Formats: sequence, C-alpha cells, structure tokens
Amino acid sequence: MLEPESQDNREEKFQISLRPKKLLDYIGQTRTKENLEIFIQACQKRNEPLEHVLIYGPAGLGKTTLSHIIANEMQANIKITSGPAIEKVGDLASILTNLEEGDVLFIDEVHRMNKLVEESLYPAMEDYKLDIIIGKGPSARVLQLDLPKFTLIGATTRIGLVSSPLRSRFGMTYKLDFYSDEEIAEIIKRSAGILNVSIKDQGCRFLAACSRKNPRVANRLLKRVRDIAQVKADGLIDQKMAKMSLEMLQIDEMGLEPADRYILETLINKFNGGPVGIGTLAASTSEEKDTIEEIYEPYLLKIGFIQRTSRGRMATKKAYEHLNLEWLDNPNPTLF
Ligand SMILES: Nc1ncnc2c1ncn2[C@@H]1O[C@H](COP(=O)(O)OP(=O)(O)O)[C@@H](O)[C@H]1O
Ligand SMILES: [Mg+2]
Repeated sequence: MLEPESQDNREEKFQISLRPKKLLDYIGQTRTKENLEIFIQACQKRNEPLEHVLIYGPAGLGKTTLSHIIANEMQANIKITSGPAIEKVGDLASILTNLEEGDVLFIDEVHRMNKLVEESLYPAMEDYKLDIIIGKGPSARVLQLDLPKFTLIGATTRIGLVSSPLRSRFGMTYKLDFYSDEEIAEIIKRSAGILNVSIKDQGCRFLAACSRKNPRVANRLLKRVRDIAQVKADGLIDQKMAKMSLEMLQIDEMGLEPADRYILETLINKFNGGPVGIGTLAASTSEEKDTIEEIYEPYLLKIGFIQRTSRGRMATKKAYEHLNLEWLDNPNPTLF
C-alpha cells in the first residue's frame, strides 16, 4: 500500500486529481504558506521571478503539490523533471535552454542528481549562465550560454543528502511537517467533496486518525474506504463503516499497516528491541533500505515508536505497548 509514487500510475493520477491549485486551498503548513505568500507578492510587485526554492519532508506531505501551487500563483509555466532523469550535462542544457523568462523548473528528488549535472547547475542558479564544453582534449572549448531568468524548485525527502553547495544556492528552504489529525480531517473532507463521496464527520475523524498524518495516505484510504462502502453498504462513510473498512485493510488505529508491524516485531523479537543498523533491519524484513528510511520510518519516528541512535534503530516502550509485547528491563536508560 505504501509503494513509491512512481510505481503506480493510476494511483498517481488519482492523487493529482485531488491536488489543490491555490495556496488558499492548501491545508495546514501555515508558516510556510504565510511566508511564501509574502515572497510571491513581493516578486510580483517587482515583476521579478521568485528566488529558487527548496522543499523537503517525507513522501506524501505535499512537496509536489506546493511546487505546482507556487508556479500557479506566480502565473508561471512549470517544467517538471527529477534528479535521476537528468543523466548528462547535455540533458540539463536542453532543459535549461528551453525555459522561458519566469518559468519554474521543478526538480523532484533533487538529492539524486549526478555530480557533474549538479555542478553545472550552480552557475545556472546563480547567474543564469550555463557553461558547456564542446569537443574533447586540447581542442575543447567552453561555451557560455545565457539563460532566461527562471525559478528552480527542488524537492527532496532526504535533505541530509543535498550537498551544501547546492543547498546554499536556494534562496528559500521550507520543511513540510506532518499534519495534525484535524488538518488531515479537513483534507479528507475536501477530497470527499471533489470525489462526491458522502462522509460523516465522525467517519472523517476516524479515517484521519489512521492516515499517518499524511495527505497522500489520507486520500488513498478515502478511496479504499469509498469502494468498500459502495460494495458493502449504500456508500455512506460513517464511523462504523470507516472502522470496518480499516479492519478489512488491516490498518490499526495508529495507522500502522502489516509492514510497519512486521518491522517493529522484527526489531523487537529478533534484535531484542535494538539498536540495529538500518541495513540489517532491511535484510531481515526483506524491505528495501530506502523504503524503510523514506516510507515507514519517518512516521514511526514521528509517533515515537522507534528512536534513532548512533548505534542504530531502537524500539521504544510505546511500540512494545502498542504491539502488546512485554517491555522488560530497559537496556539503555538514557533513552527513555
Ligand atoms: N496541504 C495539502 N492540502 C490538501 N491536499 C494535500 C496537501 N498536501 C498534499 N495534499 C494531497 O496529497 C497528495 C500527495 O501530495 P504530493 O504533493 O504528491 O506529496 P509529495 O510530493 O510530498 O510526495 C496530493 O495529491 C494532494 O492531493
Ligand atoms: Mg512528490
């Protein structure tokens, strides 16, 4: 259920259909929104493109959505690519030289750009110039191209992997936080309105509490519960229907799925609660290391079920209690 977004086109189309298009409709992240609103207005007054923006935070919290909104609010065209898609400097050159004044270039997974591409992006970001090397060996020449003034928006789930020279070239950096259950309920309500789904407030709140504080998960749950409500009843999602559906989907009241529970149980049963390195944990659960780090772990950390220590991941007392496992002596008293 928590597969990376690129692997499932239909799911992605569904999510795109629910994307708010204006800052006003973007729920939560209040400080980021207020900040952006001021910068956008100031740039519009001065008739200048916006400074480059870096947005980071766990998958599903609204980075891509916000990037589109920024372009929309600036009344700018947006061109979309991703770090790994720009394989060579030549690819970057063709993207950049095709931009027009004021365009937004959105680079998703900006931490995954190759070094040479990244380095040629620096002068483009700073001075709107691009150096291309023509030819090879002693006869090689550098050709400098002037680029239109554009805004780069970079998004990443792994801010720690963005090199400091790249990071420092963004004028603004925003971190997206997990949403409160109330904000998620609001997002579910909004999505239900767009999808024409009848949902009661209590059903909405119940779903919100199980949505991992994450809008993408919330939308996905709504879609699944809608299907179940249509097949099993008259389509209305009330609290009872929400509860029954989540049981069917094996999602518990904290929003944990079988895979989360398996990771926690492995950590507890096989490794005595840890600490255990992420690579070992991945191998023991047959999950990809990146999937654990980018999809499961951020939420488990957020709700305090695991802790990261210099020696690896540890399960907390809260996790033991949630899984009804006996918490024996605390092996590392400084942690809890
Ligand atoms: N603040 C928000 N308000 C309303 N819906 C949101 C918000 N943030 C995200 N969403 C919804 O969640 C889905 C996932 O957001 P997305 O921007 O793709 O996340 P990310 O790029 O961070 O993985 C979007 O399709 C959108 O419908
Ligand atoms: Mg995205």
